[in-house]
Amino acid sequence: MSKKVLITGGAGFIGSHVVRLFVKKYPTYRIFNLDALTYAGNLENIKDIADAPNYTFVKGNIKDINFLNALFQEHQFDGVIHLAAESHVDRSIKDPNAFIETNVIGTSNLLNAFRDTCNGNFENKLFYHVSTDEVYGSLGKTGLFTETTAYDPQSPYAASKAASDHMVRAFGNTYDMPFVISNCSNNYGANHFPEKLIPLFINNIKNNKSLPVYGDGQYTRDWLFVEDHAQAIDLIFHEGKKGDTYNIGGFNEWTNLDLIHLLCAQMDEKLGRSKGTSAELITYVKDRAGHDRRYAIDASKLNKELGWKPSVTFEEGLAKTIDWYLANQEWLQNVTSGAYKEYYEKMYN
Ligand code: NAD
Ligand code: DAU
Repeated sequence: MSKKVLITGGAGFIGSHVVRLFVKKYPTYRIFNLDALTYAGNLENIKDIADAPNYTFVKGNIKDINFLNALFQEHQFDGVIHLAAESHVDRSIKDPNAFIETNVIGTSNLLNAFRDTCNGNFENKLFYHVSTDEVYGSLGKTGLFTETTAYDPQSPYAASKAASDHMVRAFGNTYDMPFVISNCSNNYGANHFPEKLIPLFINNIKNNKSLPVYGDGQYTRDWLFVEDHAQAIDLIFHEGKKGDTYNIGGFNEWTNLDLIHLLCAQMDEKLGRSKGTSAELITYVKDRAGHDRRYAIDASKLNKELGWKPSVTFEEGLAKTIDWYLANQEWLQNVTSGAYKEYYEKMYN
């Protein structure tokens, strides 16, 4: 069956993998990728599908309601998969309002535009909101986030994503708009902007720069290969129960220090350096303000109801990721020139 699907944020890290999957897997769908191309958006991420006959790129900002209304009126989308967001916790600490504008107002604008063009007829329509496990706050040493864990966001980024989740549910409840929400743990893989831990450290190891570990390095994250997240989004978009929430995660917890040591060991091998060389770059720096101690997702609902499970082990996914960065040095050089240098100086010096 043919569908018109709008994917927002498809020039970013996760969005680019979702757009590629949908364009390739569903040749009868028309896939629209709406992205403002902020510092995190990069058309290079999806250049391989740029000329596909079922694909259209639209440059535009979800903060602009008039633009969105016109776009939705013109195309009458059947589905929206919403990933566009400000996504980096450290940036949210420096400039919280930017996160309110895109993540809260921008999401509300999309919901309004979708509701208005559907005009009360939501048959075969769906708004899919892609969210994060950070809305649940921070865990102690034990326990997992389930779909019923109470929201307790701790950073401006997490609070803005929590607010956007609430808006989506409010539209579902108030206007009967069909929706699904997924809350995913930390992703890693190709096209990840090198402000986040794994790509930043790969780039620094390659360039023999110090590896800035926040605080004691004992913070824990649950890591998922980005292509597995894209597969989960495909499954939930097509088979998820309307009005439901699905947690997505790899059952793959690592303290930052253990992860960094694994990364250093794999990099030593791939770069032909003697064992332990990259780990010498580890430097302890001032902690992130309000740093969440531990995230861990219980993804058993998604497994039981829709049969999803991750396809690679962390060691395999990490090795693939390193290989991608080493083979795409030009991509890295392009995104780390210009404004990135200024960001890095302010953040780490
Ligand atoms: P990203 O920062 O790599 O990409 C965000 C994309 O959104 C960019 O292409 C950017 O240009 C675009 N964008 C930003 N503001 C926009 C605006 N106002 N209008 C239109 N486009 C705009 O982010 P990501 O890591 O790929 O995350 C994508 C989504 O997944 C986000 O909603 C994020 O909260 C969520 N998420 C991310 C992770 C993760 O580990 N990265 C985990 C769980 C959930
Ligand atoms: O959990 C899902 C979230 O994961 C997503 O919603 C966010 O968009 C995504 O950015 C990510 O958030 P984190 O804050 O967990 O990711 P980040 O890569 O920034 O940091 C991972 C851990 O590494 C965290 O404990 C902070 C630490 N860290 C990070 C950086 C950038 C360092 O020790 N040093 C660093 O330089």
